[in-house]
Amino acid sequence: MPRAKITALGCFTPERVLTNSDLEKLVDTTDQWILERTGIRERHIADPGVATSDLAVEAAKAALAVNGVAPGDLDAILLCTVTPDMFFPSTACLVQNRLGASRAWGFDLIAACSGFVYGLVSGASLVASGMHKRVLVIGADTMSRIIDYTDRGTCVLFGDGAGAMLIEPAAEGEDAGFIDFLGEIDGSGGDFLKMPAGGSRLPASRETVDQRLHYVHQEGQQVFKYAVRKMGDLCQQILERNGLTGNDIAVMVPHQANRRIITATAERIGLPPEKVLINIERFGNTTAGTIPLATRDAIGQGLLRKGDIVLFAAVGAGYTAGASLWRWGY
Ligand code: UT7
Repeated sequence: MPRAKITALGCFTPERVLTNSDLEKLVDTTDQWILERTGIRERHIADPGVATSDLAVEAAKAALAVNGVAPGDLDAILLCTVTPDMFFPSTACLVQNRLGASRAWGFDLIAACSGFVYGLVSGASLVASGMHKRVLVIGADTMSRIIDYTDRGTCVLFGDGAGAMLIEPAAEGEDAGFIDFLGEIDGSGGDFLKMPAGGSRLPASRETVDQRLHYVHQEGQQVFKYAVRKMGDLCQQILERNGLTGNDIAVMVPHQANRRIITATAERIGLPPEKVLINIERFGNTTAGTIPLATRDAIGQGLLRKGDIVLFAAVGAGYTAGASLWRWGY
């Protein structure tokens, strides 16, 4: 059985930046509150008319360009998002067509902030089974489209962005690629973070629009407590069952929802701050985009090099949660 390896990474964020001081003009908040409670200074926001597939296509092109892989060589496209261009067709189909990935199949994967970690293990499984040679996993979200910019509890948190990783088989005998994955969903937490309307339960109507039910609704403290506990639990368990400790990890690349969730997790597994990638300051929470965006920075800062072990971890709406270990392959 081949081992699945990440061979390329590409990212894209829209140019326009929304700063904390911009938000001070929209809602009753302060730069100091946002920075202290979340770690965020600014986030990127897509221009009107730009959709998730537009960000995804740019990230995909950047990833394919790394090793000059032709879109026609892709076997599958897994598009992780909670902000698809529309319900259907899937954003994976829209991206496939725009890229000219003529041989690929694919689908959208809805797992909110855990989306990219779930996408990676799904892509890795397709490659490790021997079924596929090139799977492109894309995490892309245009959160600004479902954010209520009159709700100070949520509008300060999110930004727009995308990233893509290419998964291919490692060479025979090469010690690089997927090591392990641990996932968990808990639907009992579903009410704490959701977009209530627009689906089959509450289809769009004048009332759902008037009641602002097509936006993200969150009970922040509930999600915060779950995220701190679950991210720590999963990271600890996945390290233990692989006989590893924080010393063996070159860098943890966690989902970026709140600086305090990340530092609590790092402390729990005994990782010093210099081994933890935090870039929430510049991007906010881009949902499925955070892990590739943070991985790019980990590489850029010299924290992640060929042969290193990286720990990805995420918790999000659903609840969904996952942790994954990889030996970095390039
Ligand atoms: O990625 C998906 C998963 N999502 C998460 O992981 C998010 C998890 N939750 C969080 O990160 C935090 O709960 C928040 C950042 C959303 C909120 O921080 P908190 O420390 O839990 O604050 P809180 O909700 O308990 O609110 C404390 C106070 C409240 O005022 P009172 O009731 O004490 O007077 C809020 O109304 O802060 C107020 N507040 C704000 N004040 C200024 C809430 N949002 C703001 C704001 N600016 N933007």
